[in-house]
Order: sequence, then C-alpha cells, then structure tokens
Amino acid sequence: MGLFRHSLLSILVYMIIGLCSSYQSLANGANTNQTAKLLVNAVEGSGHRASETLFGLFFEEINHAGAGGIWAELVSNRGFEAGGHHTPSNIDPWSIIGDESSVILSTDSSSCFSNNKIALKMEVLCDTTGSNICPTGGVGTYNPGFWGMNIEQGKTYKVVLHVKSLNSVSISVSFTSSDGSQILATSNIIAAASDVLNWTKVEVMLESQGTNHNSRLQLTTTRKGVIWFDQVSAMPMDTYKGHGFRRELIEMIEGLKPRFLRFPGGCFVEGEWLRNAFRWKETVGPWEERPGHFGDVWMYWTDDGLGYYEFLQLTEDLGALPVWVFNNGISHNDQVATSSVSPFVQEVLDSLEFARGDSNSTWGSVRAAMGHPQPFDLRYVAVGNEDCGKKNYRGNYLKFYDAIKHAYPDIQIISNCDGSSRQLDHPADLYDFHIYTSANNLFSMAHQFDHTSRAGPKAFVSEYAVTGNDAGTGSFLAALAEAGFLIGLERNSDVIGMVSYAPLFVNSNDRRSFQMAGAISNGFCLKALLLWNPDAIVFNSWQQYGTPSFWVQKFFAESSGATVLNTTLTANSTSSLIASAITWQNADDKNNYLRIKIVNFGSNSVSVKISVDGLASNSIDSFGSTKTILASVNLMDENSFQAPNKVVPTESLFEGAGIDMDVVLTPHSFTSFNLLRNSGKSSITEVVRPVEYVSSS
Ligand code: AHR
Repeated sequence: MGLFRHSLLSILVYMIIGLCSSYQSLANGANTNQTAKLLVNAVEGSGHRASETLFGLFFEEINHAGAGGIWAELVSNRGFEAGGHHTPSNIDPWSIIGDESSVILSTDSSSCFSNNKIALKMEVLCDTTGSNICPTGGVGTYNPGFWGMNIEQGKTYKVVLHVKSLNSVSISVSFTSSDGSQILATSNIIAAASDVLNWTKVEVMLESQGTNHNSRLQLTTTRKGVIWFDQVSAMPMDTYKGHGFRRELIEMIEGLKPRFLRFPGGCFVEGEWLRNAFRWKETVGPWEERPGHFGDVWMYWTDDGLGYYEFLQLTEDLGALPVWVFNNGISHNDQVATSSVSPFVQEVLDSLEFARGDSNSTWGSVRAAMGHPQPFDLRYVAVGNEDCGKKNYRGNYLKFYDAIKHAYPDIQIISNCDGSSRQLDHPADLYDFHIYTSANNLFSMAHQFDHTSRAGPKAFVSEYAVTGNDAGTGSFLAALAEAGFLIGLERNSDVIGMVSYAPLFVNSNDRRSFQMAGAISNGFCLKALLLWNPDAIVFNSWQQYGTPSFWVQKFFAESSGATVLNTTLTANSTSSLIASAITWQNADDKNNYLRIKIVNFGSNSVSVKISVDGLASNSIDSFGSTKTILASVNLMDENSFQAPNKVVPTESLFEGAGIDMDVVLTPHSFTSFNLLRNSGKSSITEVVRPVEYVSSS
C-alpha cells in the first residue's frame, strides 16, 4: 500500500512535471510525426525582386535611446535648460559638492547663448586661506550623466565648457567615481580674471587612469569667488566614425545591414502638444546654441545634441537612406488647421533644403558649415506619425504633398493611412503600417498582405513588434512570432517596400510605455504610463545586448534587393509553419546564395522534405552551406546583461545541403538554410524536377 501510494504520488508528480514541461520545455521529446513538403521554385526568371530598401531601422528618441544612448554625450542637462526658462530653476541632475557654508549653486539668465539663457552660478564661500578653508578636493558641482558615466582606462575624453568670472580662477575638471573618492582623470583650468571676464570657451582633454562605469564629471575649486558655467559637454574621443555616436551600439545596428533609418520617432515627432514636438531647426548648428526640449510623450528632456544633422550623418555612415518623419501640424492633443498650416510646410521645405540643397543655399549653407558640404541622400519623408484618423490629417497631408512634390518631385512621400485593405483616398508613394500585438496574432498576420492589391503604393511596415504578456522584456516567443511575420512580409515584398521593428533601443534605466490593450494598427499613440517593452537592443552606460527580436532581424540582413522565390508548403496536418526563400549575390565574395527560412511556431517537431526546382543537381556546394537556428528551452526565455547570449542564433555546417533535403525542424524554432551555389554551375542547364507551381502559400 505504502509502495502503491508512493508510486501514485510519483506518477502524479511526473504528470505535473510533464504537463509543465510540455508547456515550458521545448527541447526534446515532442511528437515528431508531423511531416511537410516545401517546394522552392528557383527556375531562372521566376520570383520577384525585393525592394533595395526592404529592411531597415526605426530610431525613436524613446527610453533615452538617443540622449543617454547612442549619442555619446556624457553630460545630462549640459546647458542647465532642463529646469525651464525661469529662474531659480532646478539644475538636476547636477548636484553640489560641499555644503551651503562653502558653496551656493543657483541659476540666472546670464548665458551668452541667446537661445538658451540659463547658466549655472557657483558662489564659492570658502578659500585656501582664512577662517573658512575649503575642504580637500574643493567644492563645486558634479554631473552624474545618464545613470553614471562610463569612463574607461586609457581612453581620452574631450570636456568643453563655457566659463565666466570676475576674478582669476583655478578649476579642477575631473572624472571621479560616483562618490568622488576615486579620481580617474583630472586637469586644472587656471586663468587670469582678464581671460574669463567675458564668457570663454575652454577645452580640456582627459585621459583616464582607471575604469569606472558609474563615474561623474566634477568642476571644483578651492578658491573663493563667483564662477558661472554654461554648456558643459564631455564626449569620448572614440566614437562611431568619429561622428559622436556610441560605437558599440551603432556597430550592433550596422550588423543588421540596414538599408534605411526612419527617424526621429514616432510619437516623439508629434508631441503630446505641438509646443513640445520635435522642431528640426532648433537641433542644428553649433551644439551650444541649441535650446534643447522636453519631449512630453516620453517625458524627458533632451539637449538635442543628437539633432536633424546628426541623424542624417548617422544614416550616411551606416550606408542607409534617411526616412525623415516630420511633424505635420498635428500632435496628440492639438492640431493646426489646414488653412494655417503653411508655416509648417515651409519649415519642412527648409529641412529638405538643409539636407539636399546646394551649399550656397540658405539652409544648405548651414549644413555645409556643420561639416557636410555635399548634400545628404534624402529620398523619403513621412508626413506625420499615426495621424491618419485625425481631423486635419488629409487636409494638411495634401498641403505637404503638393509642396514637396513641386519642389522635389523625386522625393517619396509616406502617408499615415493604411492602404493594405483598401485603396488610399489621397496620393502617396508608400503608406505606413504599424502593428503591436500578441504572438499568436502577429504570427497569423504573416498573411496580412497576401490579398493586398498589387497596384498602388507599397506598404512601409514601419513599426511592428509583439508586445504585452507574450513579450516580457524581450522574449523568445515574441521573436519567433516576429520571424513568422517577417517571412510573410518577405513573401509579399512585391507590395511591401520597407520594414522596421520598433522600438530599437532602451536604456535599461528608463523604460517607457503604455499598457497594451490588444492590437494597435495605425491607431493613435497612447500616452506613456510606465514602461515600453520590449525593444531590440538593451543597454546601460557600458553594456548592451540584443533581445531575441534583434537576432531575428539578422536573418533578414541579406533580403533587401534579393530575389524572392515562390515556395509552396504542404503539411500532413494543420501546421504552424511558414517559409520563404531568397537568392542573392554577396557583394564581397561575389558568391551566389540560396537561403531558405522556416519558422516552426508549433510545439511538434516537423520533418520537412525540401525540393529546389530549377537548379542542377550539382549546383549546391554542401561544404560551403550552413544552417542557422534560433531556438530556446523556454518560450519566455530572454537575454540579459548577465546572460546576453542565452537566446542567440547558432550556426553549423549543413552537410545535407542540396536540391533535395530532408530536415527536421525542432518545435518552436526559426531555421535558415544558407546554401552556397556552385559558381559556374548554377545556371539551369538541367532542370531536374519540373513541377507545376500553384500559387505560393
Ligand atoms: O514605438 C513606440 C511608439 O509606438 C511610437 O512612438 C508610435 O509611433 C507607436 O505608437
């Protein structure tokens, strides 16, 4: 009896474990009796050519993706404007070193920069002699940057500041640990009163003697007097292509081979109120003269060091094309009437002249003075973001459309209105399509464009992601559904011009979001409540990793401009498979490749017979072919700073490569078969298996 009870208990325990693991564990032991056939039609001339700009990136200033993110500026609130234009104002995150008996920090409007008048006034009460001796190390102010500055041994940083004083000054500029106890690098500014009587720009190069990921910048003195500071910047000398971007973050997106960069947002472009929307003219020219602004959708201040020019420069450095999303006189809460929108239209025409105009033109000369005499290759603009349903959208849109087409007939104009299921009622070259939804929904939306009219403007799927419970802060489940969705988009790339995931970056110290209530497709931006999850790349001051969604995008890095082949998938039972196939020539090694991608979204493993029609039997080089798999033990697995490679693709040689292949897809997996085509033997001399292709599914 005892034994029986014990066995019963064990059986129960095993049953419970079994039940749990069939939900959680995806590794082994699943039913393998599912079979499928995949026919790939590689007959010369079949398939279609995907757009050269099919896969790209959407960058939004959200979650401190730019300020405190890809823009390498270490100082937060460098011009002391974040606290507003009235004094006294809050200088946060600047803070005091010393106490009120030795130093008083306040703000006034004495800056020499007319667009941003606030400056920091530092009244030093202690001295090197007398009754009030300054503490060792001095008194002053520090800036902790964006949740700590990453200062690294042997690296050099350029500190620029503007200073003014009625007396001679001796100021230490230092990088220290967060409590000031460890000095990583320091230099003294010593100047006679006559040298600093008027605002003076000072540059200091600091080479760090140590590494600390949570450092701060200090401005200290031991000398009594009054010193004003303004526009204090600290930049690492080592940035991506020397243009001020955080190298390791940009190298991650470079690896995706993006063909375009949509910027600078999203809702960020609109603003909760028009007065807080992104205004490009206030983000160009010398950085010291930029007023900065409070982004009231994602609720933080940006100094706008990362401005319109820097976005254009980044896009060029990535070898991508810019997609400039501009405000069309509509925010979340207010709208400019169409009859009054012409100043907004002129503002946008000026932005186009800035990007493309001759270096002698009014705005082209501003660009040239910033270091880029040649025009930028701006070919795409989007009129607003998620504004289609708003009262003045169509009226305003047409004003922008007509003016832009008149001045720049080649510029491609993107509408916010969804044309995937019905024709647009206004002219456009592309239309935005946004989707944030659950994993099952997104996977099933792989077929969203199957029945879209093949005539008319193409879709720009400019924001997509699995969000909500399925996504966590970047789950494997979300990525798998996105992989299926992207395969569907690739298959339909005759009607889809561009695709980008959203959002791209999150500083882990500042996730922003709204709560998801079902799917949002070309709806309205919702007000930020707490956190925005997930994002493709997570970083802090010194670390970064890709979420599984980031890694999925790597599988599509060669798809832009590739030939998308027709494929037909048949399965013995309802399956959760979706597949696509592309061929392309690698620009570096000049080899031709065939890539077959399959997502198995189901919990059974599936044996798939793959047949490639239209290639000679010896046309695949099995030694140069590989297989890449993205899979994980649990659906909700995520990467993290501690385990950045928990869910990443694994690549292995694929010896079974050929025109006939038997492969087994593990449950819940994304597999890419990367087949090297034999050079010189890839032409269709011998069509080994003529097959009637029905319409692809
Ligand atoms: O990607 C985050 C936000 O989602 C974007 O700002 C907006 O366009 C969408 O609602």
